[in-house]
Amino acid sequence: ADSKRESLFIISEWAAKFFQQSMFDTQEGQSIGLSYFRERGFREDIIRKFGLGYSPEGWDALTAKAIEEGYKEQFLEETGLAIRNDKGKLYDRFRGRVMFPIHSFTGRLIGFGGRTLKTEKSVPKYVNSPESEIYHKSNVLYGLFFAKKSIRDEDNCYLVEGYADVLSVNQAGIENVVASSGTSLTTEQIRLIARFTKNITILYDGDQAGIKASLRGLDMILEEGLNVKVVLFPDGHDPDSYAKLVGASDFKTYIDKSQKDFILYKTSILLKDAGNDPIKKAGLIREVVESIAKIPDQIKASVFVRECSSLMQIDERALISELNKIRLGKQ
Ligand code: GTP
Ligand code: MN
Ligand code: MN
Ligand code: MN
Ligand code: MN
Repeated sequence: ADSKRESLFIISEWAAKFFQQSMFDTQEGQSIGLSYFRERGFREDIIRKFGLGYSPEGWDALTAKAIEEGYKEQFLEETGLAIRNDKGKLYDRFRGRVMFPIHSFTGRLIGFGGRTLKTEKSVPKYVNSPESEIYHKSNVLYGLFFAKKSIRDEDNCYLVEGYADVLSVNQAGIENVVASSGTSLTTEQIRLIARFTKNITILYDGDQAGIKASLRGLDMILEEGLNVKVVLFPDGHDPDSYAKLVGASDFKTYIDKSQKDFILYKTSILLKDAGNDPIKKAGLIREVVESIAKIPDQIKASVFVRECSSLMQIDERALISELNKIRLGKQ
């Protein structure tokens, strides 16, 4: 069983090299893959650090080479690098895409994300490796292997949505960053971060989906007993597009200045909807207290009750009684 897993790691590592060589050492790769990354403004040191590559067009560039080099069909199939068609023939899962290798936090290669270069809506933007014996996407954070030292040193972890965000935030000089890669954040992913720090700053996309995901994510993070702050980017920007819009230095300043603790963040988001409607405002208070109720540490919770009370000009005792009601309801 362990030698099986080892075989899956080895063929994945081989595939990552294949994608890298296909990008740097072929005409097609340079003019399509490498130019794509360059046009998006990614520096060569970042492209190399994350082992980015390119999967050639055509049906079986990788599969044919792997077989030729003696790799077993079984492992191509089980890693999802190849797919068997209904005639029983294997073909490449990733074709004509730029490739993001995904590492375990110990640095083994476990999967890939491949981004299309096409703009048609009918083509899925990203194709990812399927679940396998070595790749469980709910237990993986993209970039964690490269980030973990910096997460420890900075005692904080920036959490973004996508691959490109991890690259851009790195390029801006911030290395303590990981992505949940589209899957909604899981408890396993939070526990993975918790091995290195108890502080998470969410940098999700500044669109409706990102805001919704950030509200859900912050409750989950609080439930795990970690501290959470949130940065909201303007006009629907994500960290990648915003960093490219304003440059590295202003990007860092923006993060530092506009990060909000979860109460301030949630209040400001909900207040936009509530306006001056007193009933909506009361509902808002309840929602903020619901987040506070997720915090396992009672002393910490009481600090946030005080903050909430002064921020929203509500009597602290009213908040405490609301908090206790929610806590009792949960039992
Ligand atoms: P760029 O356009 O390359 O900047 O991508 P993005 O990261 O900004 O994409 P988006 O905000 O739309 O999605 C965030 C993350 O969700 C991506 O990085 C992917 O990990 C994942 N994702 C996005 N689109 C798809 C898709 O079509 N299929 C799958 N499986 N995952 C996706
Ligand atoms: Mn497993
Ligand atoms: Mn998005
Ligand atoms: Mn995005
Ligand atoms: Mn993006």
